[in-house]
Amino acid sequence: MSHFSAPDQYVVIGNPIAHSKSPSIHAHFAGICAQHMEYARLLAPLDGFAASVAAFRQAGGKGANVTVPFKLEAYALATQLSPRAQLAGAVNTLSFNGDQIFGDNTDGVGLVNDIVRNAGIALKNKRILLLGAGGAARGVLLPLLSEQPAEFVIANRTLSKAEELIVLAQQHGNGTVKLQSCVWAALQGRFDLIINATSASLSDEVPPISATLFDSNTLAYDMMYGAQMTAFLRFAQTQGAQLRDGLGMLVEQAAESFYIWRGVRPETAALMLELRRALE
Ligand code: ATR
Repeated sequence: MSHFSAPDQYVVIGNPIAHSKSPSIHAHFAGICAQHMEYARLLAPLDGFAASVAAFRQAGGKGANVTVPFKLEAYALATQLSPRAQLAGAVNTLSFNGDQIFGDNTDGVGLVNDIVRNAGIALKNKRILLLGAGGAARGVLLPLLSEQPAEFVIANRTLSKAEELIVLAQQHGNGTVKLQSCVWAALQGRFDLIINATSASLSDEVPPISATLFDSNTLAYDMMYGAQMTAFLRFAQTQGAQLRDGLGMLVEQAAESFYIWRGVRPETAALMLELRRALE
């Protein structure tokens, strides 16, 4: 494509949106992959998501990332959905092609790629524990199940919500993964991977889980990240577990969106280091 043509336009849509790192992440990817594109922030009014998307498409926009609080509306807006977005019930990546709006969800594959590729930990035949059963937990179900763990347990404060996610997982599973829902107190045995998908970290709390779930080979993964370690990771650290926060998931979900749009897979290692340094 000639660089005399206008760059392809992308946005991240949310409310609030000012602090989104997506524009700088995608600008970095576009640079290293030599893609002629621009990526901006789009603040949509709380009651104006569909109208904002329509205006952006009208202006020739090619694709959008969608963040809080519009992921469910993006799901409803899509005319086509990937299987992982269907199971997630939420969309974070939209691609516009004529009348079609393709909706995908790259959060789960971002999480899995960060664990399997970046941390080098295979999940096949492992015991995985997912803490939480809200939107963040649901968003990562299919990619985690696709790794074919031996066992996949969802624990939540409200048991019924964990049970609902297990029913969804059963509908999409191939029957080889042992699925279970439970409350904190019923958790037993050690896990290879424990993922915190609760929002307890926001109030600096930890789900009340037993120390016996961790050993020195357990990877404790928090979907959140920040300058300070979350309460969950601090707890896991006292149990001697391996620790990982959600910065890699942020970068990898963006890389997957970029791949969907551009057909090119960007390198992520240098950017991860840069973002980590910026947090310190
Ligand atoms: P998100 O989009 O971040 O997943 P959500 O859909 O509101 O937000 O879900 C929040 C999750 O964190 C739920 O699993 C919630 O547990 P309940 O289903 O019982 O409400 C969990 N959660 C929030 N605060 C928590 C806390 N202090 N301790 C344990 N779990 C908590």
